[in-house]
Amino acid sequence: MRVDFDPQTMGRDAFYRLLTAVVVPRPIAWVSTVSADGVDNLAPHSFFTISCVEPPIVQFTSVGRKDSLRNVEATGEFVVNLAPEALFEQINATATDFPAEQGEFEAVGIEPEPSLVVKPPRVAASPVALECRLHSTVCLGDSTIVLGRVVHAVVDEEALVDGHPEITRLRPLSRLGKNEWGTTGELREIARVPYANWRER
Ligand SMILES: Cc1cc2nc3c(=O)[nH]c(=O)nc-3n(C[C@H](O)[C@H](O)[C@H](O)COP(=O)(O)O)c2cc1C
Repeated sequence: MRVDFDPQTMGRDAFYRLLTAVVVPRPIAWVSTVSADGVDNLAPHSFFTISCVEPPIVQFTSVGRKDSLRNVEATGEFVVNLAPEALFEQINATATDFPAEQGEFEAVGIEPEPSLVVKPPRVAASPVALECRLHSTVCLGDSTIVLGRVVHAVVDEEALVDGHPEITRLRPLSRLGKNEWGTTGELREIARVPYANWRER
């Protein structure tokens, strides 16, 4: 037996709750921006992924028009900071609907550090930052996809093993349904099987 859910009859919010409960786990882009007036902004976005390899482009989605989106539109820059387990409560606090003139770094007590090539600051205590320049936006109904070209990346040396980021050191949080968040669970490794080897298996 399967249970059917019809987006046409369920209504926006109920279907949104269903979608966010089944598209899981979602990585969290902790997005820093700066407003046209120079106010630093920081907010988590779990509608986040890699969009293109060459050129390197990542995307996050603003559901509705929020400060992060307005700032990217105004300045053309943003930083995606990895959301580490150690900063669980601070990350959640930056999702508070602070007024635009109040910067989350200051309000929540998060230490910023200057980025190398873009104006928005990075989160000093986050192990990874992707500095991005706006590529384009795509408006879809009530949401806007923000695509950014990654122009610089930094990783904390403590999170690297042989020069490569190590998941057990990054300890990223993910977003699940309701108010649930995830941590990295059991790790499994498997190599992909080339078709040439498929029949020999
Ligand atoms: C873990 C987490 C993930 C979130 N993901 C999104 C998202 O993908 N898109 C979005 O519009 N809001 C998302 N939110 C809500 C925003 O962070 C929240 O509305 C925030 O106040 C927006 O800040 P801003 O107005 O400074 O941009 C998320 C909140 C949390 C706690």
